[in-house]
Amino acid sequence: MNLKHAWQLDPSLTFLNHGCFGAVPRVVSETRRQLEMDLERDPVEFLAPERNLEPKLDGVRARVAELVSADEQNLVFVRNATDGVNAVLRSMPLVSGDEIVITNHGYNACNNVARFVADRSGAVVRVAEIPFPIESPQQVIDSVDAVMSQRTRLVLVDHVTSPTALVFPIQELIALAHDRGARIMIDGAHAAGMLPLEIEKLAPDYYTANHHKWLCAPKVSGFLYVDSKFHKEVYPSAISHPYNTKRPGRSVFTASFDWVGTYDPTPILAVPAALEFLSSLHDGGYEEHLKRNHERLLSVREMVCGATGIDFPTPASMLGSMLTLPIRNVEPSRAEWLGQTLREGFGIEIPVYAGLRDADGELLGTTLMRISFQVYNEMADIQKLIDAMEHLGLTGRQ
Ligand SMILES: Cc1ncc(COP(=O)(O)O)c(C=O)c1O
Repeated sequence: MNLKHAWQLDPSLTFLNHGCFGAVPRVVSETRRQLEMDLERDPVEFLAPERNLEPKLDGVRARVAELVSADEQNLVFVRNATDGVNAVLRSMPLVSGDEIVITNHGYNACNNVARFVADRSGAVVRVAEIPFPIESPQQVIDSVDAVMSQRTRLVLVDHVTSPTALVFPIQELIALAHDRGARIMIDGAHAAGMLPLEIEKLAPDYYTANHHKWLCAPKVSGFLYVDSKFHKEVYPSAISHPYNTKRPGRSVFTASFDWVGTYDPTPILAVPAALEFLSSLHDGGYEEHLKRNHERLLSVREMVCGATGIDFPTPASMLGSMLTLPIRNVEPSRAEWLGQTLREGFGIEIPVYAGLRDADGELLGTTLMRISFQVYNEMADIQKLIDAMEHLGLTGRQ
């Protein structure tokens, strides 16, 4: 099934970077455009909270809540995962000496939120150093455990890591944090649309995700889940009317995120169109889409590692639909060159990173290349990547 035509991507580009900003199917963009036209025909009526905006947001909320198995009351919308992390961390009453645990695989923007709130409050950031390549999820648990202490107030970990594309063992990490009396926030920026999610069962304190990455919704939108015991504490990054103006029949928590000043809600309102589209791709619906993407990624791993001589860097149980490869024969200082060369010389859009950093910000030394394999990608895309790697001398035992 060739699905490329259902997206709007430049056909001359071999696009292996869905994970970066997502990509929106035509039909979803059309829905969003229609919503935008409806908004602009009568902005006041479209954004009228009681008559229009709130019921519409509630409809999407119910749909997303069902998808991720969360109670609707615990789910609000944010602009993106960065926004979700900001809302939680900047609302948290931290005091001097408190500790926040992050990981060296964490997304820099979100790790920076931890650094920012720590700088303001006198809290301390502890960085769990997790190896890559990795052999087992236990290494993640052990690394996080090793930096936790009596003073740990919050653990911030990714569900699917950005530079290394690892699926972290979040169930065990949630249990670990709670056993130690700490709260835990999961940054699931990539997870929604890549992995089956049962948030209420996992019971993190906070979980945020993007709709615009693997759920293929328009940019920008995401959700934030907050356990009900913290609803009174968590406010969006932008405080607006609901802070002192109650909305009929709505909690302050929900109302505060429903209105963050004037904004364009159409990316959120188009989320059901994206879900409908992804669910229509296979007879088994959305679940089959996730399963097939994962299985295809495992085939990608076989193919690319087989052809390049790179050892499997990640066990299958820690993969979703992205794979990061260590490229040992390119110096980290040449990572940007490699990314640009693949794009400009071979028409391949794929991210290449200078590698992980240690707690002091020093590069750990291995260039990383991340393959995203979305449903529209084909094995021919991987063959093009392999051919380019061969051409550049990146294959052979490293
Ligand atoms: C793990 C993780 N968290 C957060 C983000 C930030 O996403 P956004 O810029 O949409 O907030 C990303 C983006 O790639 C990510 O990979």
